Amino acid sequence: MPTPVTISENELREQFTYIDAIAGSIRDKRPRAYTHTFGCQQNEADTERIRGMLHQMGYEMTDNTEDADLVLFNTCAVREHAEDRAFGNVGALRQLKKRRPEVIIALCGCMVQQDKNVEKIKKSYPYVSLLFGTHALWRFPSLLYRVLSGEKRVFDIGGTDDIAEGLPVLRGQGAKAWLSIMYGCNNFCTYCIVPYVRGRERSRRPEEIEAELRELVAAGYKEITLLGQNVNSYGKDLALDLDFSDLLRRLNAVPGDFWLRFMTSHPKDASPRLFDAMAECDKVAKQLHLPFQSGSDTILHRMNRGYTAGEYRALIADARAKMPAITLSSDIIVGFPGETEADFEQTLALVEQTEFDLLFTFLYSPRSGTPAASYEDDATPAEKQARFERLLRAQDAIVERKQAAYQGKRLRLLVDGMAKGPDYPFTARTEGNLLVCVRGEGLQIGDFIEAEIEKTTLRCLFARKL
Ligand code: 5AD
Ligand code: SF4
Repeated sequence: MPTPVTISENELREQFTYIDAIAGSIRDKRPRAYTHTFGCQQNEADTERIRGMLHQMGYEMTDNTEDADLVLFNTCAVREHAEDRAFGNVGALRQLKKRRPEVIIALCGCMVQQDKNVEKIKKSYPYVSLLFGTHALWRFPSLLYRVLSGEKRVFDIGGTDDIAEGLPVLRGQGAKAWLSIMYGCNNFCTYCIVPYVRGRERSRRPEEIEAELRELVAAGYKEITLLGQNVNSYGKDLALDLDFSDLLRRLNAVPGDFWLRFMTSHPKDASPRLFDAMAECDKVAKQLHLPFQSGSDTILHRMNRGYTAGEYRALIADARAKMPAITLSSDIIVGFPGETEADFEQTLALVEQTEFDLLFTFLYSPRSGTPAASYEDDATPAEKQARFERLLRAQDAIVERKQAAYQGKRLRLLVDGMAKGPDYPFTARTEGNLLVCVRGEGLQIGDFIEAEIEKTTLRCLFARKL
């Protein structure tokens, strides 16, 4: 595997000259930018970098498209629904652009990395003036400069898999931060568009990751989530003797009071070695998101997942043996082409036996260009919907039981936001990432507190600070 290439300092420096040039030309106008992110945490992290560049150009951020001079959508292609929503949102800007033709409308992310979407935007959304794919993100300053200089439409979906280090980042305020450790995916699950839109796996160098973690801790972030499509294959492309478990140990040694999380893990690469490292590292939260997608070996094989349901069960057993209190979550696809009632029953059985704390359940959505899009699919939408609902009901019953078992327990929590109700005004997370609403004196976002669970519902625990 070739070692990942980092964008050269010269090329990056050129982008910073565009940032400065834009800053010089718009300084007096105090322009505003609105951004919205669809999709996964990787996309959120990308938007933070775009916002970082905008901030350095002198843009203020706004939550309202009405007073924005630049509106940017960072899009997702993982399911049709995500694409429909992005197109719907862009369509809704038609009126805004009519009223204020000077507004710049920009689209980026996974969806625009696909030719069919680019064609559609070219034809049907003429007021989109800037479009760039995931590989061109670091070139945003030069692309925006061209638009600001009067070019009608600037489209850039080219680029390579190279890594851009040193871009500015504007993170959200609060206790939580994303930290990308790798980009892309090599797995080619037959349903998934990600490898086509985000390119091959490439790992950031450990010293860059550690330096960023130290910055985050110094800036007061308390929950740092390491991001990658498949974090368990971290380091395979680096010419270093280092895997993800080693990286966890190295990051765990960074001084400070914080929790480290990571996502997403792939069962084919998760290993007893990983669970040993998790168990050993005090700052690594005992929480694991390990998508299994289907409980049927036939379906898993046709998804190209590289493991069986039995192997998955063995992994979970090992993780629980090493970390008895670990919380588990997973992703499931219902209605993959060819899924029979019997296949589905196996998924249901795995859910009922494993007792996950949280499940993300998706109806299969064909993605053109992926192998599964041409597989024969004979289950009707109504049959798929019925399976989907059975799964949700089964999972709700499990979660209700598990939540009720927290009644009266004392836990360490991280206060991370404001809640809606007046009785429990703050939100917090357990180490296992369960949602808690809290009350008590002197609560502040970013605090670790000891609390006692006073009541529980299906979606939330309610606690009092001790
Ligand atoms: N249809 C439905 N769900 C999908 N996912 C990925 N691709 C598809 C698809 N084509 C789900 C998987 C993955 C999660 C991020 O999205 O469960 O783990
Ligand atoms: Fe994330 Fe995949 Fe959606 Fe891209 S397509 S935003 S990688 S979930």
